[in-house]
Amino acid sequence: MEHYRACADAALDRCLPPATALPVQLHQAMRYAVLSGGKRIRPVLVYATGAALGTPPAQLDAPACAVELIHAYSLVHDDLPAMDNDDLRRGQPTCHKACGEATAILAGDALQALAFQLLTQDAALDVTPVLRLRMIEILAEASGSRGMAGGQALDLAAVGSQLTLAELEYMHIHKTGALIRAAVRLGALGAVQESDPLFAQLDRYAKCIGLAFQIHDDVLDEEGSTATLGKVQGADRRRHKPTYPALLGLSQSRQMARDLCDEAVTSLNSLDSRAEPLRNLARYIVERSN
Ligand code: IPE
Ligand code: IPE
Ligand code: MG
Ligand code: MG
Ligand code: MG
Repeated sequence: MEHYRACADAALDRCLPPATALPVQLHQAMRYAVLSGGKRIRPVLVYATGAALGTPPAQLDAPACAVELIHAYSLVHDDLPAMDNDDLRRGQPTCHKACGEATAILAGDALQALAFQLLTQDAALDVTPVLRLRMIEILAEASGSRGMAGGQALDLAAVGSQLTLAELEYMHIHKTGALIRAAVRLGALGAVQESDPLFAQLDRYAKCIGLAFQIHDDVLDEEGSTATLGKVQGADRRRHKPTYPALLGLSQSRQMARDLCDEAVTSLNSLDSRAEPLRNLARYIVERSN
């Protein structure tokens, strides 16, 4: 993970406009939102999926950065006063606290555009134009109203109400699962065709860890500490957000995340030891403390 995280950090630094380029305020906010911490789970997933299939990391820099840029934009907007209204992210003031609300909104917009620009332009991404278009399509679907943004809309609409387990699962699969699933799909696409059974196995893995990731995020919000999380503990409960712990309690939520992790690992049975980083990532997702 450390190795792939370093690959992601370096590639993100390269793809973002310099902080001195005009408009300086906007570029500083974009760099702040992306480069000040973060676990880099999504780009690491892109690299680890590629590695499991024999694709070298340099070829995957563009998709790895693209998913992380969308993720960073989603966090900037998620923290805004109109959404979760959070002041702390990755142990530092949220983007709108540090850069102002208008600049934070624009930084999110520009990060999203940059993600698609990268997938369109990157020369190291050695795929046919048809495959490149498909990658852009996958990321667009995962980010839009039938993916992350749609899940966020459901999340906001659900504040203060009691969702059924099926509704909560649907919300989590969209707001968080969609982008994690896109990370695995983008990592796989250069090496396996979507019609290949292996692609479906990787997709199963991704769906399981995507849901497990948000269940564990809910658990951490309840039982983590602000210092370790780098975001304010207990915010979901205070804002009456529907979460897994609120609906099922902590121990059942933890168990559900672990079961999903087991299912994810089982989905990789046909892959050899090169998929070990993917197996470790699944375990990390439900054991992490931040
Ligand atoms: C936080 O994601 C938002 C969710 C989708 C739960 P991460 O926990 O991956 O955030 P960073 O990138 O590591 O800060
Ligand atoms: C955020 O979920 C999901 C997205 C940003 C798409 P949360 O609102 O639970 O994420 P945190 O807890 O603020 O990181
Ligand atoms: Mg939110
Ligand atoms: Mg939030
Ligand atoms: Mg959360």
